[in-house]
Amino acid sequence: GAPVEVDISKLEPGMLLMVEWRGRVVWVLNRTPEMLETLEKVEGELADPNSEKNQQPEYAKNRTRSIKPEILVTEGVCTHLGCSPVFRKDIAPADLGPDWLGGFFCPCHGSKFDLAGRVYKHVPAPTNMVVPPHVYLSDSRLLIG
Ligand code: FES
Repeated sequence: GAPVEVDISKLEPGMLLMVEWRGRVVWVLNRTPEMLETLEKVEGELADPNSEKNQQPEYAKNRTRSIKPEILVTEGVCTHLGCSPVFRKDIAPADLGPDWLGGFFCPCHGSKFDLAGRVYKHVPAPTNMVVPPHVYLSDSRLLIG
């Protein structure tokens, strides 16, 4: 499959863009400063907070799992059986509980991921969401693939 170029100049903070790449859905999320703050707070609850499992590109091996701190690029695919998780940026909703600070929830079997696509402990999904290879061609132009 060919690489896909994405213009992120109009991606407002807090907004998620969906892109198709190689027949898969890739998410581009522009995280607000408040969203970025949650990444440290949830770390004790995560299965692989430092992305040590051999799966992500080198540049995603950090707390934000990204090249630019605010922009997350990840496949929108649950690492359990491949369902599409739901972007849930609401804080402490009734169905996810008081500790939920925003992230991605997979409705198929209840796996939870934080706002960097890092998987929580004690859920069916074994690993963090996959970060596809990508580069920035300029400040606002992203190339996936
Ligand atoms: Fe997501 Fe099973 S496919 S929890």
